Amino acid sequence: MSYVQIAVDGPAGSGKSTIAKKIAERLNITYIDTGAMYRALTYKVLINNIDIENEDAIIELARKSKIEFLQDNIYLDNDIVNEEIRLPKVSKNVSYVAKIPQVRKILVDVQRKLALNQDVVMDGRDIGTYVLKDANLKIFLTATVEERSRRRYSELKNKGLDVTFDDVRKDIINRDKIDKERKFAPLIEADDAIVIDTTDLSVEDVVDKITSILEGGQ
Ligand code: DC
Repeated sequence: MSYVQIAVDGPAGSGKSTIAKKIAERLNITYIDTGAMYRALTYKVLINNIDIENEDAIIELARKSKIEFLQDNIYLDNDIVNEEIRLPKVSKNVSYVAKIPQVRKILVDVQRKLALNQDVVMDGRDIGTYVLKDANLKIFLTATVEERSRRRYSELKNKGLDVTFDDVRKDIINRDKIDKERKFAPLIEADDAIVIDTTDLSVEDVVDKITSILEGGQ
């Protein structure tokens, strides 16, 4: 029996996780946030004071860490770290960890295993191009840098974090650049992905659009 795989990719702040979660709810299937896995490892790198450029030490850490995404929670060595992985210092450093090929291989293995025996909506950067190349539906979300920065800024402000719009914008631009320019599984839309620009769309608009694509309309 084969399971349903829906890939949702796109740059930071394009609305991936909000949209992917809602699609999973509507279809009553499992949501998997792959960015949370790279963030959890980055958090562990930071709390262990490992230099972000020390690739060998980061790979070694990845090998001996247990990183799982289960029922909307991200686990790092059996602890839930949902809040910690959203800290600005993790966002600033995560792309440096995610560009290491051996790190990606370790985490992609876990991601593929999660999709082996259940229907999934998986969000990330390389789901349609690499992790689940045969996904039934591939969505690539985009939005302008200004709009994506606005969304991320208000998300962080709502959590009470002390950030400036300018810092958030710079972080998004830097992350996009590293994610797009890395050699192994970069951020790019799959040839067979449906691209949706979410700049002027509400969350419900986007979810409706994807639901109608799934039902065979456009
Ligand atoms: O989706 P996010 O912002 O939580 O992702 C955090 C970082 O993780 C992102 O800047 C790049 C990386 N990432 C990746 O390289 N591949 C994925 N499948 C998901 C995230």
